[in-house]
Amino acid sequence: MSDLTIKPLNEADVAQDPITQFQRWLSEAHNAKLAEPTAMALGTVDREGRPSVRMVLFKGLHQGGFCFYTNYASRKGEELTANPRAALTFWWDILERQVRIEGRVERVPQELSDRYFHSRPRGSQIGAYTSRQSALLPSRAELDARLVATEKKFAGAEVPLPEWWGGFRVIPESVEFWQGRQNRVHDRLLYRQTAAGWMLERLQP
Ligand SMILES: Cc1cc2nc3c(=O)[nH]c(=O)nc-3n(C[C@H](O)[C@H](O)[C@H](O)COP(=O)(O)O)c2cc1C
Repeated sequence: MSDLTIKPLNEADVAQDPITQFQRWLSEAHNAKLAEPTAMALGTVDREGRPSVRMVLFKGLHQGGFCFYTNYASRKGEELTANPRAALTFWWDILERQVRIEGRVERVPQELSDRYFHSRPRGSQIGAYTSRQSALLPSRAELDARLVATEKKFAGAEVPLPEWWGGFRVIPESVEFWQGRQNRVHDRLLYRQTAAGWMLERLQP
């Protein structure tokens, strides 16, 4: 997309709160037919302050928090349990847009995880039940054998929600909307949570 078709990001045009603004941009990302508009980078920090980042899929908002689902015993799950703070970044290339979210992390209620888990294809449920995500695996063959064993175990029955699997929500304290502009003189609007509500500020590119 050329800069002629990219709209500047103006204070007067954005929503009062970042959730509404995010929903507008996400819907535009869906309309732009991006391959994975809900893919987001998730940054976590371990007990020693070492950061790590990986992609996860955004699965909706719950009580003002950005949700994703994973294995609670994975590396990210353990880091979030020890240090419940995270950063998320979306990048929508065709639109030249980036959204950065930072905040506290909580687990979503188990009923929500259960509903989402059972909305997934059965193969994904078997996979989630079988994989000890982030643990060492001696060989692919071992995992394949364990997948077969899980299939047998639940043959003709529902796969239960594993107790080590579910959602987290990132409750935003700040959300930055970044719009690419010509000559790298980009627009950056930052919402910050304050005692008086959301404050909107502009950052230098
Ligand atoms: C586009 C994309 C989407 C992904 N979505 C998820 C997801 O929603 N949940 C998840 O646990 N892993 C997801 N993954 C895999 C993670 O990036 C990562 O490999 C895995 O969660 C293990 O991370 P960890 O060892 O840091 O816990 C995704 C990977 C990609 C490339």
